[in-house]
Amino acid sequence: MNAIIVSDLHIGSRYFQSGMFERFLEELPADHGLIMNGDIIDAPHGQMAKSDQSVLDRIEKISHQRQMVWIRGNHENGYVPQNFGQVVFKRQYSIGNRLLITHGDDFDDIMPRSRLFIKAFKLMHNLRVKLGGKPMHVAEYAKKWKSFYRVLRNHVALNAVKCAAENGYRAVTCGHTHYPEEVAFNGIRYINTGAWTEFPAYYLHITPDAMTLKQVDPSFVMQRAQSAHSDQMDSALPSRKASHCPANAGPDLSKIAPGEPR
Ligand SMILES: [Fe+2]
Repeated sequence: MNAIIVSDLHIGSRYFQSGMFERFLEELPADHGLIMNGDIIDAPHGQMAKSDQSVLDRIEKISHQRQMVWIRGNHENGYVPQNFGQVVFKRQYSIGNRLLITHGDDFDDIMPRSRLFIKAFKLMHNLRVKLGGKPMHVAEYAKKWKSFYRVLRNHVALNAVKCAAENGYRAVTCGHTHYPEEVAFNGIRYINTGAWTEFPAYYLHITPDAMTLKQVDPSFVMQRAQSAHSDQMDSALPSRKASHCPANAGPDLSKIAPGEPR
């Protein structure tokens, strides 16, 4: 099968790159499915700017033309939209045994134990923006604390790989950390597709023969949508207790291409 995987759009956040994503949708090859790997909406019950609602309408519309999967992340867990085109909602997904696709919050048990720190961090970030600092998503801001962020990224990556290994997958892709990267542990690939709340954005391109992390064409970048958006703080941080391995959670793993080669 051919597919494109993206994560952490955070539609509704003031930092969502709506113009870039709309252009990206326009350029999707007709024979590719689209898998949206969590945190697609920033706040499911929050107010949505017109430009963001139009992106959601577009997703719904093209779901009638191509296979589309929406994997729930920590920002939308429990969100069940009614009559949302042909979009299939899942908690995790897989492509044969080539690739486990899951948002990654289940692999993060650092943040749930750091609530006080997170609260202080958000306040600091808010204050910084109010004082005229460059507006940026809180996850982008958190990357300035390099050591802390590296610990979080490695923690998620190692748990993801462990889960993939336990369940017979050769690779695993996540979002959640908002940090695009590809590494391998013990022969298992971990690919993170980053976030659409900052530049550049990334996607994972799946073909029958290859899985390639790619940067979105820089010419797709349009001016950031700003004032119409909710100024609500959002975050890459999980709202649920981590369970390390969603693939062990039950038979929710759908095989969209059981005949795929290893
Ligand atoms: Fe996120």
